[in-house]
Amino acid sequence: MSAKDFADRFTAKGCAILSAAGSFLKNEQFGSWAGTGALTCGAALAIYSLNKILSIRALNHGTRAIFDWSKEIVLVTGGSGGIGGETCNLMDYQQLQGVAAKIRREVGEPTVIVANAGICRGKPILKAEQKDIQVTFGVNTLGLLWTAKTFLPALASHNHGHFLVVASQTGYMATAGATDYCSSKAAAISIYEGLHSEMKHVHKASAVRISCISPSHVQTAMFDGIQSVPGMASLTPQYLAKTIEGILKSGRAQNLVVPASVGLSTLVRTLPDWIRVFLQDSAAGAFNNLKPRDDVAKSSEVNDEK
Ligand SMILES: NC(=O)c1ccc[n+]([C@@H]2O[C@H](COP(=O)([O-])OP(=O)(O)OC[C@H]3O[C@@H](n4cnc5c(N)ncnc54)[C@H](OP(=O)(O)O)[C@@H]3O)[C@@H](O)[C@H]2O)c1
Repeated sequence: MSAKDFADRFTAKGCAILSAAGSFLKNEQFGSWAGTGALTCGAALAIYSLNKILSIRALNHGTRAIFDWSKEIVLVTGGSGGIGGETCNLMDYQQLQGVAAKIRREVGEPTVIVANAGICRGKPILKAEQKDIQVTFGVNTLGLLWTAKTFLPALASHNHGHFLVVASQTGYMATAGATDYCSSKAAAISIYEGLHSEMKHVHKASAVRISCISPSHVQTAMFDGIQSVPGMASLTPQYLAKTIEGILKSGRAQNLVVPASVGLSTLVRTLPDWIRVFLQDSAAGAFNNLKPRDDVAKSSEVNDEK
């Protein structure tokens, strides 16, 4: 082979290889994968941002609200341990009216309400006594409604304020051993959704913020003895308090499931049944060794029948 032949042959081969690699990188497999990947990421980001903007707009009815924190009066139910706290059995509507009147006289009309009080007895329905179930719904569902009926009228009439419901991730999917608790929290989520809509359509008070937070497990006395199960995230009370503070200070209504990693649980009812059952099976042992606080003693009106 002459030097010229050699050069021609290998240069031609090299050119062919380079051109093949070039077209692979540019237009063909790799190029189209990279292009598709970038497009997918861009589209996902655009959908995420659009979704966020639309949700914030819808949850706040497209209105602005200004909170003057030197004037707002914040009331947290189920937070009576601290300074200035009033004790009240939220299941007792009359008692609540008395305590509300005292708060109005001594402090003023609350403008920011965190409906936080809750109870969990942690017993399977067939093992729970009637009073366990009555107290669970009495505090988590009726107590929430009584709180709304007592304090929301002032917010609606001034078209100002924030009402935040502390629901639970369990409101989106019932777990064995806490069916009454989970269903009382599902009701709380529904009450939140209804109040949010009524504020706009019935009371024409679009600037009143109605929010909901549905936490996964929080390390408090309520779920003392809970067993960790796959997918269960555990939050500190400080983290939850900071998140609630963030919602209130933002002046915007929000509907959050925290942490974000458990947000998919909101989709459970729209997913095929086998996925729900699989998730319920995985979580089934969580409440086996729960040591619930003996809060039933608080209510004198609940009878003891099984
Ligand atoms: N811990 C969690 O993993 C978790 C997860 C998701 C959602 N949540 C929700 O977060 C909220 C706060 O729970 P927590 O974890 O802080 O539980 P907690 O430590 O047991 O506190 C519950 C609060 O509710 C109050 N309460 C109970 N029965 C009441 C009644 N009849 N009338 C008025 N107040 C009553 C209690 O008041 P006393 O102290 O005076 O009895 C207590 O301050 C609840 O709504 C709960 O369902 C908790």
